Amino acid sequence: MRKEMKRILVTGACGQIGTELTVALRRKYGNDNVIATDLKQETCLPEGSGPYHQLDVLDADAIESLITRYDIDTVYHMAALLSAVGEKNPQLCWNVNMNGSINVMNLAVKHSLTRVIIPSSIAVWGPGTPAIAPQETALHPTTMYGVTKVCGEVLGDYYVRKYGLDVRGLRYPGIISSEALPGGGTTDYAVEIYYEAIRNGRYTCFVREDTRLPMMYMPDCLKATIDLAEADFADLKHHTDFNVGSMSFTVAEQAAAIRKFIPEFEIEYAPDFRQDIADSWPDGVDDSSAREEWGWSPSHDLESMTRDMLEKLRVRFETGVLV
Ligand code: SER
Repeated sequence: MRKEMKRILVTGACGQIGTELTVALRRKYGNDNVIATDLKQETCLPEGSGPYHQLDVLDADAIESLITRYDIDTVYHMAALLSAVGEKNPQLCWNVNMNGSINVMNLAVKHSLTRVIIPSSIAVWGPGTPAIAPQETALHPTTMYGVTKVCGEVLGDYYVRKYGLDVRGLRYPGIISSEALPGGGTTDYAVEIYYEAIRNGRYTCFVREDTRLPMMYMPDCLKATIDLAEADFADLKHHTDFNVGSMSFTVAEQAAAIRKFIPEFEIEYAPDFRQDIADSWPDGVDDSSAREEWGWSPSHDLESMTRDMLEKLRVRFETGVLV
């Protein structure tokens, strides 16, 4: 592994996490040192905010040419299909999530990159997982997305052992944010509920009111991602599979939190196929390994997140950024 210079490639930079992660990385390391890429032809990032390239992570030659052109040393590989969309097209989910990841890892070995970050998810778990998922427990997912996340973790750990590649990853809970929308996940309801509360004062939720899942607000997600990426490798016993907790609530509790700010907010429930996926995931996670190995500690709870989300979205709607 070579010395760190911080020339970063972000795949999936127009995704829910990628959009804000790219901005955070550019703030930290400089606009020109963070190369944003996504399948989308046009950048979703602010004009003039740094280099952007259209990139299909299945095209290893295209990834390689960016690595050499920009002398990349770190990759945040965020491009992936999420759980709900993955169930609609399991083959594509396997192809993008697995082959994208192995392309990135093979090129990282070939070009002696310093570090690769590959997200994992609460989707690695399945029915029968304890309600609070321990760090070490059986992984029997029932979605293709979950299958690819388990395989991605195991593959990443293999590259750590076999090639000495520094691969790191977090099992993200549902991520809630006000900038880019999530695309095709099961936890999307926990984001949509805020948009619809501001837009229409009501929301029809696609999971039951008693559905409880682990969630995290974007500022904590960015902090967790960058803190893990910057941790001293020698301190890490885990690599690709850190549990990270923050908060856990039912939809009814989230609706009640919204009503503190919008008393007239109404919610209905019309569960669809995503209910089964949600039911297969745990209520919360034990993240003591992340706390011990790299000092993880979240800042937001349901109330502080709800206040901030509603304030930010209200401004975006009132200024016409959102309609
Ligand atoms: N948010 C993801 C999903 O719902 C979970 O990692 O698919």
